[in-house]
Amino acid sequence: MAGETLAKRWCVACHDIGQSATVKDGAPSFVEVARHPEFSPDRLKVWLSDPHPPMPKLDLSRQSIDNLISYIRSLK
Ligand code: HEC
Repeated sequence: MAGETLAKRWCVACHDIGQSATVKDGAPSFVEVARHPEFSPDRLKVWLSDPHPPMPKLDLSRQSIDNLISYIRSLK
């Protein structure tokens, strides 16, 4: 899956991107993000287009953002 490849490249340093729900240094695992009712696709899109510290600015394309959101939501 395209989103998984992106997550492995850009997100894994800080987030747990697999099936585990561990929080690393304040960064929520993607499973937790997927399960949390407040993280709607729209909210994820806004966040990934313009993340705020401590998360770095990632300059993701709209396509990459859509792929990442599909991947995160598939982890539920
Ligand atoms: C340098 C570390 C770092 C990297 C790299 C990083 N993040 Fe984060 N991210 C964080 C931290 C820390 C938080 C918690 C921020 C907070 O609670 O204010 C966070 C929060 C989030 C959230 C929750 C946003 C919210 O509204 O609270 C999402 C979704 C997220 N990251 C997705 C990603 C994705 C997707 C990538 C890869 C493209 C990524 N992050 C890369 C550190 C990182």
